[in-house]
Amino acid sequence: MAPFGTYTFPEGFLWGTATAAHQVEGHNHNDTWYAWEQEEGRILNGHTAEVACDWWGGRWREDFDRAQAAHQNAHRLSIAWSRIQPEPDRWDETALDRYREMLIGLRNRKMVPMVTLHHFCEPLWVAEMGGWENEAVIELFADFVKKAVEALMPYCSMWVTINEPDVFVYSAYVDGVFPPGKKDLKTAMKVMQHMVRAHARAYHVIHDLQPEAQVGPALHYRGFKPATWLPGDRWAAKVFHTLFNDLFPRTLKDGLFNAIVAKERIPEAVGTLDFIGLNYYCNDMLRFNLFAPKDLFVRMYFPKGSELSENGFIANQPAGLIDCVQWGAQYGVPLIITENGIEDSQDVLRPKYILEHLHALWRVINNNTPVLGYFHWSLVDNFEWERGWTQRFGLWGLNLETQARIRRPSVDLYAEICQLNGISSETVGKYAPDAFSGIFPSES
Ligand code: FCB
Repeated sequence: MAPFGTYTFPEGFLWGTATAAHQVEGHNHNDTWYAWEQEEGRILNGHTAEVACDWWGGRWREDFDRAQAAHQNAHRLSIAWSRIQPEPDRWDETALDRYREMLIGLRNRKMVPMVTLHHFCEPLWVAEMGGWENEAVIELFADFVKKAVEALMPYCSMWVTINEPDVFVYSAYVDGVFPPGKKDLKTAMKVMQHMVRAHARAYHVIHDLQPEAQVGPALHYRGFKPATWLPGDRWAAKVFHTLFNDLFPRTLKDGLFNAIVAKERIPEAVGTLDFIGLNYYCNDMLRFNLFAPKDLFVRMYFPKGSELSENGFIANQPAGLIDCVQWGAQYGVPLIITENGIEDSQDVLRPKYILEHLHALWRVINNNTPVLGYFHWSLVDNFEWERGWTQRFGLWGLNLETQARIRRPSVDLYAEICQLNGISSETVGKYAPDAFSGIFPSES
């Protein structure tokens, strides 16, 4: 019998997973993250990316086979600037060939490719010039984008310019856990401005080459909820929202980079948006704390009683995805969920997390909000930045030593959703019975 209740998604909806070059490829010694991993104390437990999922060695083939067999019709991956331009005056055509092969590999498997051009990493020579602090990076990035898009545009027309400029700037220049490990707000704002300008340049470079291209950033959206109605908490939540969530896309909308204390016009950024990619994981509660200048005067935490992921990194808050999409919709362009997922090596909470988030997504789409697709983070466990291998976000697990993939129940759950283009009551009952009454409430 066909499933009785079904939440159906729009026709042509993109269902996929997302990955990033450094996290899956392995052994890229030319990259800022490789160097960072060699420094003592930078990565939890001294982990390094090592061979990662061995995509550079060709294992992308078997992972794409798995994704295809699991009915995914799209995949978001990133390409490494450091591989394509290992030195300022040298392009590595063999690296471009390898990426070309991957994109053809996706198309042969009937999966729509989406390519991210910057996902947290740069070549070492760029870092040596001052990285994103040096204004020159804007033109350097534009040169790289031109070269890469020229080579790959026969196979791809959906481009993410920069992944999570908000997380990148915060982690690399405020929190200091990403290279170059600085803690300096003024520099952070300068870098953010350079990223806006680099995005805008890349947008035009791509459209000059490929007029039909769809180009946008992937923004990490974080709901910041004041812990109380006290003015300090509300003010802190507002400042975080303005700087973390709003600053980048607002500048693309009205051309004014308004970092509260510093303002600057960037007119060339206006309108450089064909879509917004949204990465949503969860929200934070914020409490103002005058005695915590090092933490920007706030304490962040998850509400008491939250369902937490294995290492407490993520809370299951599906309603936040509705806020996220509604927030994104104000920019007037189509939206794509470019990341959403949970670290969970035992797949205990993931099925419920996926189903509740997709149900929330269905609701907001049916409020007439244009969302074109959903990319789950991630296809297979991969190297989680400063948290190393301690966090497992894959639908498939990974044994790093043997390179064996471990099929988690969420593989089949997600496959059913992709195949049906919807969520059926049968799927919910099978994979997350404790979520059933929330997703299919019975009439009383
Ligand atoms: C996002 C990153 C992605 C991955 C997930 C868990 O912030 O874009 O690379 O690390 O978090």
